[in-house]
Amino acid sequence: MKKIILTGDRPTGNLHLGHYVGSLQNRVELQRIYNQYVMVADVQALTDYYGTPQKVVDNILEIVADYIAVGIDPELTTIFIQSQIPALSELTVYYMNLVTVSRVERNPTVKAEIAQKEFGESIPVGFFCYPISQAADITAFKAEVVPVGEDQLPMIEQSNEIVRKFNRLYNTNCLKEAKAYLSPVGRLVGIDGRAKASKSLNNAIFLNDSSEIIKQKVYSMFTDPDHIKASDPGKIEGNVVFAYLDAFYEEKDELAALKEKYKKGGLGDMVLKSLLNDVLQKKLRPIREKRESLSKKDLLEICFNGSQKAKSVAQQTLDEVKEAMGIRFF
Ligand code: TRP
Repeated sequence: MKKIILTGDRPTGNLHLGHYVGSLQNRVELQRIYNQYVMVADVQALTDYYGTPQKVVDNILEIVADYIAVGIDPELTTIFIQSQIPALSELTVYYMNLVTVSRVERNPTVKAEIAQKEFGESIPVGFFCYPISQAADITAFKAEVVPVGEDQLPMIEQSNEIVRKFNRLYNTNCLKEAKAYLSPVGRLVGIDGRAKASKSLNNAIFLNDSSEIIKQKVYSMFTDPDHIKASDPGKIEGNVVFAYLDAFYEEKDELAALKEKYKKGGLGDMVLKSLLNDVLQKKLRPIREKRESLSKKDLLEICFNGSQKAKSVAQQTLDEVKEAMGIRFF
C-alpha cells in the first residue's frame, strides 16, 4: 500500500516558476511513490474572495491546466475541487467543537494574516475557521504526508492537535496525524530581486507567459546595480539572473565557471540574460504547448473524475467520524 500524500493550492491566479520550483516539480516526482491527492482549494480561496467568487471560479481550470502541463498525471494523482466534496464541510463542523478561539488566534499564520488584512474588530468567521477546514482536508484523506511551504507548518500542527483530541474524546483511532514535508528547494526570488516571486507583487514568470513576455521579464531582471561595465567585477549574491540559473540551468560546472568569471569581471549581464532566456524558453515551451492542447472539456473531465473519487474517500472518513461520535443513525 502506497502512503497517502495531499496538497492543495488556492485558485487565485495562474501558477508561476516559484510554484514550479517550490511544489509542482516535487509533485511530479512524488506521484510515482505516493498515492497523491491534489486539491484545488476553492472553498478556502472564497474565505478571501467571497465578494468576487468569479475570480476564484475562473482560476480553477487555469490551475488544473498548469498541473497537467507540468506533468502531474491524472492517472497517478487524484486532482479534485474542494467545493465538490461535501464531507469536508461536515467534518469542519464537528472539528469546530474541538478548537478554541484563542487557539486559532495563536496560530502564527492566522495571526500574521489578520494583521496584514487589517480586519480590526471585523474578522469574518469563515476566514477565522479556515485552519479547521484545512484540518478537514488533511484528515478526510488520511494524509500521512503534506508537502507545504514553511508558512503552512502551523496548519499541520493545528490539524494534528484536532486529530489527537478527536481520537481521545471519542475513543477511536480513525483519524491519522500527518507529517509536513518541506520542499527540498527553497523559494524562488522575484524578478525584481524581492524575496519571493508572487502574483500580487507582479514579479513572477508564469507558466503560461508567451515567449515574448518571458524574454522581456528576463531582460528586466535585477542583477548587480554596481556592475555597470562588463569588465567590472560583479556580485552573485542577490543577483536574480544567477538565482534563476541556479534553479533551472542544468550545466552546473559551466554555471560555476560563469560565476567565477562574473565575480572577477569580464562577463556582461546581457550575455547571462541571453543564456537564461534560452534556458527558460526551452523549459517553458513544452509546458505552454501542452497547456494549449488541453480543452476545457478535458480539464472538466479530469476534475469530475478526481472529485468523484475524492468524494467517496472523504465520505468514508466522515462515516467513521460519525460512527465514533455515535451519530451514524442510518
Ligand atoms: N492553505 C494552503 C495554501 O494557501 C492551501 C490548502 C488548503 C492546503 N487545504 C490544504 C494545503 C490542505 C495542504 C493541505 O497554500
